[in-house]
Amino acid sequence: MCGIVGYIGTKKAYPILIKGLQRLEYRGYDSAGVAMISDSGDLNVYKAKGKVDNLTEFCSDKDISGSVGIAHTRWATHGEPSARNAHPHYSSTHNLAIIHNGIIENYATIKAKLQTKGVEFKSDTDTEVLVQLVEYVMVKKNLTLLEAVQVALHQVIGAYAIAIVDKRDPRQIIAARKQSPLVVGIGEDEFFLGSDASPIIDYTDKVVYLEDGNIAVIRLGEELRVMSILGEEQELNVKTVDIDLGQIEKGGYNHFMLKEIFEQPECLKNCMRGRINVEGNHVTLSAMIDYRQQLLSAKRIVIVACGTSWHAGLIGKQLFESLCRIPCEVEYASEFRYRNPVVTKDDVVIAISQSGETADTLAAIQLAKEQGAFIYGICNAIGSSIPRATDTGTYIHVGPEIGVASTKAFTGQVTVLSMLALCLASERGTISEEQYKEMVKELTLIPEKQEQALKTNEQIERLAPIFTYAKNCLYLGRGYNYPLALEGALKLKEISYIHAEGYPAAEMKHGPIALIDSEMPVFVIATRDRLYEKVISNIQEVRARGGRVTALVTEGDTQIQKFADHIITLPDTLECFQPLIASIPLQLLAYHIAVCKGKDVDRPRNLAKSVTVE
Ligand code: G6P
Repeated sequence: MCGIVGYIGTKKAYPILIKGLQRLEYRGYDSAGVAMISDSGDLNVYKAKGKVDNLTEFCSDKDISGSVGIAHTRWATHGEPSARNAHPHYSSTHNLAIIHNGIIENYATIKAKLQTKGVEFKSDTDTEVLVQLVEYVMVKKNLTLLEAVQVALHQVIGAYAIAIVDKRDPRQIIAARKQSPLVVGIGEDEFFLGSDASPIIDYTDKVVYLEDGNIAVIRLGEELRVMSILGEEQELNVKTVDIDLGQIEKGGYNHFMLKEIFEQPECLKNCMRGRINVEGNHVTLSAMIDYRQQLLSAKRIVIVACGTSWHAGLIGKQLFESLCRIPCEVEYASEFRYRNPVVTKDDVVIAISQSGETADTLAAIQLAKEQGAFIYGICNAIGSSIPRATDTGTYIHVGPEIGVASTKAFTGQVTVLSMLALCLASERGTISEEQYKEMVKELTLIPEKQEQALKTNEQIERLAPIFTYAKNCLYLGRGYNYPLALEGALKLKEISYIHAEGYPAAEMKHGPIALIDSEMPVFVIATRDRLYEKVISNIQEVRARGGRVTALVTEGDTQIQKFADHIITLPDTLECFQPLIASIPLQLLAYHIAVCKGKDVDRPRNLAKSVTVE
């Protein structure tokens, strides 16, 4: 994680850098910093612990002149969050400053070597090692900045997106990437840098997504040059980005998270647009057309993902197994990559990732590729690393997700998994034509039903204060609603800091039941499906121990209200699509509880939106 911004041109750099950092704060907010070459030629570095606002306050009485600069918002890996460890980092002479997103794994070895040569370090970070190494080889071998960066990167093991400025050459920024994202924006007599395109799109829509192992030489008055670390010139692949600015502003909501929860009906329409033909009740995915054979011959599906995307994967498993009769396993990417898993060329590996940058998911893809599996990506961020590393895939098209707690990406992922499962099931003949059409039709009705589910917002806002004093909460569900119980608990943990656990409702009696008392709220997803009666019994088990139950029920339900403390009523749908609707009240619950507790909903402590370190 960490967010990187850069500017070189004729405008004042500072406001552009700060605005860019604010857009990238979702990538981390342990500290923020900026390095600018001032009008008088000084290289000024200013940094502050915490959010970007702290940095702007710190800079209020500083020299912020200059038209070239780099800036960084940090999610700490090496070294505690502090101004000292914040980026940018100077080299010893203060001629160079660097920003970095990623991890230099062999930093300790390089640091020890440099220390024997007399280099002194000011921070505990792996990043400072890189800038000191660049300066050391620059001086020792009398190299240009570009040459020194090439030599240094050759010695480095790890992941990085970096940008370096040299005060002796204020017309240049050198940037490079390996496994961490970096985008260069090309304007008129100006260039921009960003970890994604969001800090750039106000100024230009022409961007180059830097490829792994490449260096960008950004010189004012010259064409952008991209080369490999070894110096081989690369062809410029300039793309036009099309991100609606309104999509990344709050649009009248107090928080991005609330805005994103409310956007879901529209997002899912976008996700299905052009893929579901409503008249014919038919799903077409371009990946299914281009790679029909590879997908249909799958003997097994393995889903790799992290966090919320992993929960979406658990729903995918049930879809693939019950509709397509294809065995499916769901793996935490971080475990999969290190446990020598059995993967064969008969497997289709589906990587799910909102950001498309999660380091563990990328590594899991790499491993599966080496074993010959066919790789399918389900991502949101267009042009990000995962879609580029996969054989094919489907974008969820829900627009930029800024709130750190994932909401609309989850329902987008489940929608794509549903469409894919329907395509496969229909082609494999594992569901009847009639069932297929009925299911496709129902999927198209989900946005409307989500609108109805969103009407529970006021009720949930009123309920939320009751739960703010809870220390622990339990979320229960069965079948398709079990992954949703996990997701509901994760949302609450992430933003309200209340400990919460998701459990399969029937499994509760094998442990968590011991914890139940009147202090522990229990949220039960008890919508009408095959397991409805069984879930009622589970609710009774909770009630018998004095537990307080809030149940999510299907409209028309008359039974559960007799013994639940609170009920939240949702529209009916097919069992397999229930998570698309029931996720909404769970997201709203977490949101309102966190707001009542006065928490920073969009930027919860210790978390980052995009986890580009393992
Ligand atoms: C982080 C985010 C989560 C997200 C997970 C996986 O932990 O805070 O919201 O679910 O990473 O991210 P991805 O971008 O791969 O879906």
